[in-house]
Order: sequence, then structure tokens, then C-alpha cells
Amino acid sequence: MGWVRVCGTSDVPAGEVRRFEVSHRPFAVVNLGEEGFRVVDSICSHAHYFLDEGEVDVDFGTIECPKHGSTFDLNTGKPITLPATQPVERFDVKVEGDDVMIEVTDD
Ligand code: FES
Repeated sequence: MGWVRVCGTSDVPAGEVRRFEVSHRPFAVVNLGEEGFRVVDSICSHAHYFLDEGEVDVDFGTIECPKHGSTFDLNTGKPITLPATQPVERFDVKVEGDDVMIEVTDD
């Protein structure tokens, strides 16, 4: 698929996360303010719950799953705390003008 637009830069307030779909696939777009945007799979790797309904910690660059409380590193997608043990997929991000773009590979 290559680089695709996932949302606009003003669609996600600083310190927050929103869910957007591209080709029927949900992505969690996080705005870390001065640190920029991070995008990970919207679905938690533990029990198929929406990660984007969780809390973002801008200082640590993490998001906490609201279902069972696993915290994920937004730079790597790896879980920092249990019960999740598998990473969520993370995507390369770039901002072009007012657009947040992510690189999605077909697999
Ligand atoms: S569903 Fe996310 S930690 Fe269980």
C-alpha cells in the first residue's frame, strides 16, 4: 500500500489518541505534542480490545490498554507491562503539510 494518509494533523489534540480507518483497517494515531505523531495497530495484542480507548502518557511515550492495563511503548509497539506479551504493530509516520501519513505494507 505504501504511504497513505491516515488523518489530518489537527484531528488529534496533543496528548491524545484517535482511531482512524484506512481500507477498513483501524489505526491508533497518537499526538505526542513536540515529539510528533505515533501510529500503532488499534487493536490490543492481548485480547482484541481497542487500544485507542486507553490513556496516553506523553512523558513516557506510552499508551495503556483500558481493558487489562498493559502499557505499550509507542516507539516500538512492545508491551512494557503484563498481561500482554506480544507487540502491537507500529508504523512509520511522516507529516506532509496538514496530513499525517503512515507507511503500510501489504501482507
Ligand atoms: S486487551 Fe489489552 S491488556 Fe488485555
